[in-house]
Amino acid sequence: MISTARYGPWALITGGSEGLGASFAHRLAEAGFNLVLVARREEPLAELTAALRAEHRVEVRTLAADLTRTDVLDEIRSLTDDVEVGLLICNAGGAVQGSMPFLAASLEDNLKVVQLNPIAQTALCHHFGKRMEPRRRGGIILVGSLAGNAGGPTVVAYSAAKAFTQILAEGLWCELQPLGIDVLCTVLGATDTPARSRMGFADPEGAVISSPDDIARDALANLANGPVYVPQHLEPGFRHICSLPRREAAETMRSILSAFDPT
Ligand SMILES: NC(=O)c1ccc[n+]([C@@H]2O[C@H](COP(=O)([O-])OP(=O)(O)OC[C@H]3O[C@@H](n4cnc5c(N)ncnc54)[C@H](OP(=O)(O)O)[C@@H]3O)[C@@H](O)[C@H]2O)c1
Repeated sequence: MISTARYGPWALITGGSEGLGASFAHRLAEAGFNLVLVARREEPLAELTAALRAEHRVEVRTLAADLTRTDVLDEIRSLTDDVEVGLLICNAGGAVQGSMPFLAASLEDNLKVVQLNPIAQTALCHHFGKRMEPRRRGGIILVGSLAGNAGGPTVVAYSAAKAFTQILAEGLWCELQPLGIDVLCTVLGATDTPARSRMGFADPEGAVISSPDDIARDALANLANGPVYVPQHLEPGFRHICSLPRREAAETMRSILSAFDPT
């Protein structure tokens, strides 16, 4: 079980109201972590908080805020400056409008994907990393995607944003691991979350859809094995896409994504 002495006593989870974020919250509460949960909608945050408080003797704070707003760090600070956040999980990061061609989506929505991933993640890692540094302990988990290893149609800004996420984790790992701070990018393939269901994907026959509970468990278990964790069933696809010449990688993404067309 993940140790509060190493990564506690508080963990902050973005997108901590449902799906993978909720799975992280349950696992961490079970291990005795106090939690700060950030998401936009109040109601799912309140429901999860009630469930966590009923099942575990931990403190839970919530912030209903949009992480694509430039001043969101101020709000997060006002909720966390008085506690020790030893574990940061940047989970929120999905496509803003579902999968959509780059030019069909508005510029605003394309930019939101960038704000939610590269910009918010950089701001949070910098802020909480600086607070972990003098303590010489802590952990950061960034949620990445297989899509971050090659560009493809209908996920143009999303793939680029997730490439940033993965490379950010690698660089941070180099700098922070010697300071006692573990950094991990956990690479996801298709995962059964409410956000994904809302997009209405028609999964091709035989597609492996991961459970968010399994992803959260494996990411926490591998936090010290950074910088990048790829679940075993994704390993062959991950290695393959990384090994291809770039044009072939993009063409492979084009053919994979055409099989996952939203209905
Ligand atoms: N599901 C998959 O198949 C899949 C595959 C590869 C990678 N991933 C990655 O896994 C992570 C979780 O994915 P997900 O499917 O659960 O979708 P997600 O939309 O990234 O995460 C859902 C959570 O994030 C919150 N959220 C979304 N946008 C937000 C914003 N602008 N500000 C604050 N909170 C926000 C949602 O609550 P509110 O809506 O109330 O804000 C909810 O709590 C993401 O980083 C995603 O890129 C997922």
